[in-house]
Amino acid sequence: MKFFIDTANFNEIHEANALGILDGVTTNPSLIAKEGKPFKETIIAICKEVNGPVSSEVVAIDYEGMLKEGRDYATWAKNIVVKLPTTRDGIKACKQLTSEGIKVNMTLVFSATQALLCAKAGATYCSPFIGRLDDIAQDGMELIREIVVIYENYDYKTEILTASVRHPLHVVQAAMAGSHVATIPAKVIDQMFKHPLTDKGLETFLSDWKKANSK
Ligand code: G3P
Repeated sequence: MKFFIDTANFNEIHEANALGILDGVTTNPSLIAKEGKPFKETIIAICKEVNGPVSSEVVAIDYEGMLKEGRDYATWAKNIVVKLPTTRDGIKACKQLTSEGIKVNMTLVFSATQALLCAKAGATYCSPFIGRLDDIAQDGMELIREIVVIYENYDYKTEILTASVRHPLHVVQAAMAGSHVATIPAKVIDQMFKHPLTDKGLETFLSDWKKANSK
């Protein structure tokens, strides 16, 4: 499973990239706004830092507006992926931008029907938001499992990008379900490293080593 980081924070991206396990980045208008820096500059800097796809979301909600923003973003860097909302206009714009050779990530996916539409429109990625489904007492991971079956049945090339990941168990479950990608916040990446038995074991190894060498 590919690991993307879900942030517009340059330091977080730089740190994750330095680990050597980062395959790409996803941003959204909320994440960009949180950083308080100019949008275009932020995206271009991220694209230079990471050797992998960087999703940049449009804010237009109409077809023509999405095409205009999407075509513009695509000129900023080679690794730009245009992120579009999964609406009627979004699906139509996905089909068009994809036919122009522009990669598209369809966002705010909350149902299997929406995921089918994304694949039919030729999206490179389809992003179901599992945490937000969990928030309303619907099993977000069940949606990932449904989409995996549907995409496999028809050999769709669209990759499932599990988004709205809130904790390490989401990452494990996404990997078990066969999601192609998980986009993970920096905090959750940190949590993935942690195991008390690793810390305890390391402490014991080092103290045993010290004792043996001080004799
Ligand atoms: O990748 C989508 C993500 O940014 C949304 O996450 O936690 O706001 O639902 P969240």
